[in-house]
Amino acid sequence: MLIAEAWQPAFVGEGVVRYYSLARHALIEALRLAGVRPGSRVLLPEYLCRDLLAPLHLLGAVSRWYAVAPDMQPATASAEWPAADVVLAVNYFGFPQDLRPFQAYAERTGAVVIEDNAHGYLSRDQAGQWLGCRTGLGVFSLRKTMRIPDGGALWVCAAYTARELPAQVAFDGAGVNPAQSTKARLRGLPVVGELAYRLSTALARTLRKWRTGSDIPGADPDSEQMLPAAANPWAGLMPALARGAAPAEIERRRAAYLRCAVVGEQVGAVPVFASLPPHCAPYAYAFRGDAAALAGMQRHAARHGFDLVSWPDLPREIVCRAPAHYRNVFLVNFLW
Ligand SMILES: Cc1ncc(COP(=O)(O)O)c(C=O)c1O
Repeated sequence: MLIAEAWQPAFVGEGVVRYYSLARHALIEALRLAGVRPGSRVLLPEYLCRDLLAPLHLLGAVSRWYAVAPDMQPATASAEWPAADVVLAVNYFGFPQDLRPFQAYAERTGAVVIEDNAHGYLSRDQAGQWLGCRTGLGVFSLRKTMRIPDGGALWVCAAYTARELPAQVAFDGAGVNPAQSTKARLRGLPVVGELAYRLSTALARTLRKWRTGSDIPGADPDSEQMLPAAANPWAGLMPALARGAAPAEIERRRAAYLRCAVVGEQVGAVPVFASLPPHCAPYAYAFRGDAAALAGMQRHAARHGFDLVSWPDLPREIVCRAPAHYRNVFLVNFLW
């Protein structure tokens, strides 16, 4: 039996990790460690979920933006990016972001690079380096790649541990989203758990569609200002990570991706990434396509118990000027 406190995920290495309920709490701490104060400028990709603005808002920081190309890399050379104190590099969907433009920007301006690896737990780059551990500060949303009620993490390199890194907050579940823990309890029921979970999810979506016209939760108007839960992670987080970290999970996601890629080719979906790099543990198959491609991928997703969603819920400031390629990405999400 694994002792939760003694076990650490492999990516931790020489660094130190603090666990939270959400990656947004980890981002708040990463920004603090990067020296962010009221008025600091944080450079973000325009292609981003609006929720990520809350950590900036809570610290009194201001957002600056760089454009993102259809292949998820920055659309302009880093020499053209606006001045900022911190810059965020995102490993979209678990695929390694090329960090060279970010490093060039940091060298030129002195900005701190934070690696947003919310989507990339268990994923590595072509050199075999764990995503989220390639700059001094990395942020993870563990709950996005594992079916757990909550879980985020901050990875910091040794240089930061010498500075003020707060103690681990208690694993007492104060931050657990009640809907997620109900779902986890349902799924944990012997024999009928999986069926009960799927039926209750389908019922909740049908009711939501009937009430709001959409089967996915609507944008929360406060999400750019507030965090929905306390920072304390779920008590079961470490045992769940210990159970799920096997190479089999990486292989499962890679196999799911490759199957989606084959189906995608048949139904006319255009993958956002041209290939699946070695060591990459994707969080989802990201694609663009017409209604037929969408319907084909939807059928495939349903057959395998995967969700198909559009991503992201863009920040208010970006949505009005977003190019088409920010609005037409769909994900077959490999959580199951
Ligand atoms: C790129 C990225 N970073 C961070 C987050 C925040 O993760 P969490 O919901 O765990 O706070 C998200 C969530 O949507 C995300 O997509």
